[in-house]
Amino acid sequence: MKGIVLAAGTGSRLGPSTLATTKHLLPVYDKPMIYYPLSILMLAGIRDVLLVCTSRDLAAMRRLLGDGSAFGIAIDYATQDHPGGIAEAFVVGRAFVADEPCALILGDNLFHGGGLRLALRRATTLESGCHLFGYRVAHAESFGVIEFDTDGETPRRIIEKPARPPSQFAVTGLYFYDGEACERCRSLRPSPRGELEITDVNNGYLADGKARVEQLGRGIAWLDAGTPDSLMSAGHFVQTIQERQGQFVACLEEIALDNGWIDREAVAATAERLRASPYGRYLGTLTDG
Ligand code: G1P
Repeated sequence: MKGIVLAAGTGSRLGPSTLATTKHLLPVYDKPMIYYPLSILMLAGIRDVLLVCTSRDLAAMRRLLGDGSAFGIAIDYATQDHPGGIAEAFVVGRAFVADEPCALILGDNLFHGGGLRLALRRATTLESGCHLFGYRVAHAESFGVIEFDTDGETPRRIIEKPARPPSQFAVTGLYFYDGEACERCRSLRPSPRGELEITDVNNGYLADGKARVEQLGRGIAWLDAGTPDSLMSAGHFVQTIQERQGQFVACLEEIALDNGWIDREAVAATAERLRASPYGRYLGTLTDG
């Protein structure tokens, strides 16, 4: 399976911090935001990644992530300069996807917790249709929200940012699709807010009886980091977990090592380059013994 990280948003809710750079390069505690969604694709076992960003930020993204070989993956880049909606990722990424199964994750989404790796593996075994994740949130009106059938558990449709949410279950920004996603996105029309909505794609799969929606339980944290407050909360969350456990969240080299994609020497080289930082010192501990 392939994977796309969509990191092309304007980040306007984080101005002025995003006037000169993208929010996806801002730190969530000790590492750039983009590390978190990338770590999720890597945990899902995905090594073929397309990073979609604006042309303004392309050089900086490349400087940070390169061709992905430091993390044992291959990263291609594509640009999206006007906010045309999440589903546009499958328009600009069409050649990369080549009608193969593909995951999509939003560049400001963070996932962490027990059972996550298993849930990701379940999603990648998808043979046809799509696999979405639902998550209970206090303020569902900010998201795509699942409306359930009268049985209270079969998803009927997803409503994008409803004024009156039909449930408290939001659709997270992590989606797994079969090889039809590009084709389905091609026939989409822009919504009233002028965007190609991923919710319309998902509703298409739902209507065809081809959408699996898995609820992520309360033991898994799903956070986004698109506003000053949510960015700060996400940073505190990562700091708290790392400080307590002594294990890092979204350490790309650790995941790659664990997956057998890079060797200890590669990790040691990055550890040496970053030795002045806690992240670098953590990498150093992975190569001991
Ligand atoms: C987007 C999707 C929405 C989803 C959310 C998850 O919202 O449109 O359905 O619940 O991501 O982060 P947006 O980023 O456009 O506000």
